[in-house]
Amino acid sequence: MITHIVGNRPQFIKLAPLYRELEKAGYAQNIIHSGQHYDQNMSEVFFAELGIPEPYVNLSAGGGSHAQMTARMMVGLERELTDHPPDLVILYGDTDTTAAGAMTAAKLCIPIAHVEAGPRVHDKSNPEECNRIVTDHLSSALFCPDTVSMRNLQQEGLGAIAYVTGDIMYDTYLSIAGRIAPVPAEEEIIVMTWHRQENTADRARMESILDLVEKMDGKVICPLHPRTRKCLEEYELMQRAASIVNFEMTEPLGYVEMVRLMNRARLILTDSGGVSKESSFAGARCLFMLDLDVWPDLLEDGWIRKVDPQSAESVAEALAFAQGASRVAKEDRPKYYGDGCAAAKMVSALRQERLI
Ligand code: UD1
Ligand code: UDP
Repeated sequence: MITHIVGNRPQFIKLAPLYRELEKAGYAQNIIHSGQHYDQNMSEVFFAELGIPEPYVNLSAGGGSHAQMTARMMVGLERELTDHPPDLVILYGDTDTTAAGAMTAAKLCIPIAHVEAGPRVHDKSNPEECNRIVTDHLSSALFCPDTVSMRNLQQEGLGAIAYVTGDIMYDTYLSIAGRIAPVPAEEEIIVMTWHRQENTADRARMESILDLVEKMDGKVICPLHPRTRKCLEEYELMQRAASIVNFEMTEPLGYVEMVRLMNRARLILTDSGGVSKESSFAGARCLFMLDLDVWPDLLEDGWIRKVDPQSAESVAEALAFAQGASRVAKEDRPKYYGDGCAAAKMVSALRQERLI
C-alpha cells in the first residue's frame, strides 16, 4: 500500500498526476488528509476538479500555531500509519503537513518519497525552509522540480537518492490548460495572490502591499486566501482594500478557474512559491513579494523580479517592470521545469529505488 499524505491546496494539485500514474500502473493507494486546509474552496474543490479519490481519513488538524498544528497532525498520523501501515509514504512540498508526515513516518521506519525536494532559500526564519530540510533528510527518494534543487541536495549529501523529474505542477497545469480556450488580448489583467506569513503577520507590511496594488497600472484580480482575509479584517484594512478602484478581491478559486485567470494575465503579483513558478507556464512575468530566491533560474533570467513593498526604490523599479510586462508566447517562455511528464518519471524512479 502507498499512502499519500496531503493537507494543503498546493498538495492536492501536486498529488493528482502522481495518483493517476500509480493507479495506471496498478498500485494500491490511499490518501490521508491532515485537515490543514479545510474550507470547501481550499480543499474539496480540488479533489472534485482533479478527479482525486476521497481521503480515507481527515485528521482535522488545521488551525493554530505551527507547533500546535504539527503536533496534532503527528498524533493523528502515528495512529493511522500504525493501524494501516503502508509500504511507502509520499509527501509533497514544504508545509507543516509535509514535515509532520516526514517525522512520523521516519520514526515508524516507513520509507518516504518526497515530491518537490531540494528547493532552498537559505533562510531558516522561513517556516517552509525548515519543513523542506527536515523532509528531504528523512526521505528515501527525492524528486526535484529543477536542476538547482538537485545541486542543493548534492551539496547536502543527498544526491544519490535524488532525481530531476521536472515539476509535477506542470503536469497538472498542462492537463487543465489544454482544455481552456485562449482569451483575447484586451481582457488581459494582473493576477495577484497573497498569503505568506511574512506578508500577513504585520499591519504595516499589509498596508504597504495595498499601496503597491493601488499604484499598479491596470485591473488587479486577487483570489484572497482565508489567512489574508482574516488578517485584513483583524487589522481593519478590509475597507481600505475594498476602496482601491483597480483592485478586485474574490473568494479562493478552484484550479480550473485559477488557470483560466493566469492564462489571461500580463503580470502576476504574488508571494506564492507555486504561483510564481506557474507564471512561467502561463506566460505572465512575475513580481514576487518576498526577499526569498525560491526559483533562482527564473530570477536570474529576469522572469521573476522581487519587490519589497516597504521600499520606495524597490516599488519604483517594480512598477517599471510591471509597465513593460505583456503576455509571452508559448515558444518564448522559460523551460526550467521539465516536460510535463514528472509523474511518470517518479514512478520509474520509485521502481529503480525498489520502493514500490
Ligand atoms: C500553508 C503553508 C504554506 C503554503 C500554504 C498554501 C505552512 C507552514 N504553511 O500556509 O507554506 O504556502 O499553506 O496555501 O504549512 N484558513 C482557513 N481555512 C482554510 C485554511 C486556512 O480559514 O481552509 C486560515 C486559518 O485561520 C488558518 C490560517 O488560514 O489558521 C493559516 O492557515 P495555515 O494552514 O496555517 O497556513 P497557510 O497560510 O495556509
Ligand atoms: N491556486 C488556486 N486557487 C487560488 C489560488 C491559488 O487553485 O485561488 C493554486 C495555484 O494556481 C497553485 C497553487 O494553488 O497551483 C498554489 O497554492 P498556494 O499559493 O496556496 O501555495 P504555495 O505554492 O505558496 O505553497
